[in-house]
Amino acid sequence: MDSTNKLTEIKKRLYAQNPKRINHIEGVAECAMELKDRHFPAIPDVKILQAAYMHDFTKEYPEAEHLKILEKYCISLQGYDRYAPKLLHSKSAYALAKFEFALEEDVCDAILYHTTGRENMSPIEKILYLADYIEKNRTHIPCVDLRDTYYMLVERKHQNPLDTAILYALDLTVSELVEKKGIIDFNTIEARNYLIKEGI
Ligand SMILES: [Fe+2]
Ligand SMILES: [Fe+2]
Repeated sequence: MDSTNKLTEIKKRLYAQNPKRINHIEGVAECAMELKDRHFPAIPDVKILQAAYMHDFTKEYPEAEHLKILEKYCISLQGYDRYAPKLLHSKSAYALAKFEFALEEDVCDAILYHTTGRENMSPIEKILYLADYIEKNRTHIPCVDLRDTYYMLVERKHQNPLDTAILYALDLTVSELVEKKGIIDFNTIEARNYLIKEGI
């Protein structure tokens, strides 16, 4: 099956699940394409769309279903994963992307790290991470704040609006998690440390 057919199949299965979050997923796809055109125009559209439509594919599955998928594909939970249930959907969606849809590795990785970010993120990872945070349907205050900040940076022709916005997103995530006594994933810390080290 070629990449375009895989995308068609992903969408078909996604819509058949009738997900509550379809507006968000479509918003991520639209925003991710915009970010790609602005920052990494050479990336094929189909890869961005596969990552966007797949990223929350399992978001509404019950915990037992996530665990079943992870067990089936021998993906183990690590460290504090069990205490951060939001991470389960990234891992189960990654498993389906990799083993059921056979998507390319860089697309699968973007899905796997879309919630946490990670050290030295690839272009597709950066696009999906930021688009997930700032797509137009998100009304959570930190998302609106981050969206306004990103577009302000673009408008003012900041030299690196993408990485600057991602660092701010990581700051907002860490602050929120500290405030609500949530588990902070090591990948989030490493993503943030890496950007600071790089002088962002
Ligand atoms: Fe997600
Ligand atoms: Fe999402």
